[in-house]
Amino acid sequence: MPVAAITALQALRDKARLQPGQHVLINGASGGVGSYAVQLAKAMGATVTAVCSGRNAELVRTLGADHVIDYTQEDYTEGDTRYHAIIDMVGNHPLSAMLEVTEPDGVLVLVGSMEINPWWGPLARPLHAILRSPFVSQRLEPMLASVTADDLAELSRYAEAGQLTSAIDRRFPLAEVADAIRYQEQGRTRGKVVINVLP
Ligand SMILES: NC(=O)c1ccc[n+]([C@@H]2O[C@H](COP(=O)([O-])OP(=O)(O)OC[C@H]3O[C@@H](n4cnc5c(N)ncnc54)[C@H](OP(=O)(O)O)[C@@H]3O)[C@@H](O)[C@H]2O)c1
Repeated sequence: MPVAAITALQALRDKARLQPGQHVLINGASGGVGSYAVQLAKAMGATVTAVCSGRNAELVRTLGADHVIDYTQEDYTEGDTRYHAIIDMVGNHPLSAMLEVTEPDGVLVLVGSMEINPWWGPLARPLHAILRSPFVSQRLEPMLASVTADDLAELSRYAEAGQLTSAIDRRFPLAEVADAIRYQEQGRTRGKVVINVLP
């Protein structure tokens, strides 16, 4: 299982401390981290709202999402639903807007951002979250995943139980690894890209 699955596990289990019955929103649900997060959140007994574009709605439903929001049609931060946890891989909404739709005792887990701040780079949102944190009731949790043998074993148990699989977008031969990276960098991947090491 790749780093993306470890990231999803640690975001839901350690940062969100997700409990059965809670409602989690996953922003960027069709990507590498998101496709694992949808499945793991369902396996943990949560209600899952997945945010992705319409072309990926069927994929995230197949992975177990209870509700799907097409971000090209609807902005989840403007809806009436309140979530216990938001797992954010996209970073396309201000923290204040996300807090509006997070339960007062809920949590925002900041996994990644597709918009890079020209001054602070990828540190901008985590720093903002740390500064904002004392003034809000919700927990703000920037995160950096770390690969551990225990977590790989835990992911294996989910996979063996039929609760976790890899959604494969495209496979590239090793000789085309540069194309694979360029494809991944477009930010439109559905699940994971595979590099075939053996011919
Ligand atoms: N903190 C950590 O330890 C850690 C670990 C791993 C990754 N990350 C970070 O997490 C982020 C996500 O990584 P990833 O590997 O999952 O990326 P990815 O596989 O490239 O994810 C791309 C997905 O994002 C979706 N997307 C694009 N714009 C969106 C929007 N406005 N709203 C909702 N979804 C949108 C795309 O769906 P559509 O094609 O449908 O738009 C696509 O499925 C990256 O910034 C990465 O650096 C952080």
